[in-house]
Amino acid sequence: MHEVKLDTRAFLVSETDEKGIINFANDEFCKYAGYSIDELIGKPHSIVRHPDMPKAAFKGLWDTIKSGQKWRGFVKNKAKDGSYYWVFATVYPFVNCDNKKGYISCRRVISDMEKKKYDKLYEEMKREER
Ligand SMILES: Cc1cc2nc3c(=O)[nH]c(=O)nc-3n(C[C@H](O)[C@H](O)[C@H](O)COP(=O)(O)O)c2cc1C
Repeated sequence: MHEVKLDTRAFLVSETDEKGIINFANDEFCKYAGYSIDELIGKPHSIVRHPDMPKAAFKGLWDTIKSGQKWRGFVKNKAKDGSYYWVFATVYPFVNCDNKKGYISCRRVISDMEKKKYDKLYEEMKREER
């Protein structure tokens, strides 16, 4: 499937509850993921998971954010039509106005060099999973 490159100014935001269920996504997130906002709300964030992503990457993400720290990392996501897009994500723990814990992820474009590096690294990590 083909790659969709993020615009240099793209800023994709999503918000989840404590379990990773989507509560909000901005228009740019919806655009790149290929889903309407109504299709995303209430779904697990793994809706955009790409099969090339190793399990260990998400274990690192969850261990970090559950401990109250922010996580930064490179993620290959899968859009509804099967295409993929790479992002650099920062995930922040936060508390909403109802005093409920949740997480917010902000995503930006990554360079071709980083893409190459993480493509290779994740491929190796995937191989080790088997
Ligand atoms: C705020 C937030 C944003 C996330 N964003 C993504 C994302 O863009 N892509 C993705 O594959 N997983 C994302 N995740 C991780 C998913 O919740 C999930 O752990 C991952 O897709 C792996 O799926 P699995 O846990 O069902 O194996 C995010 C989690 C949180 C809390």
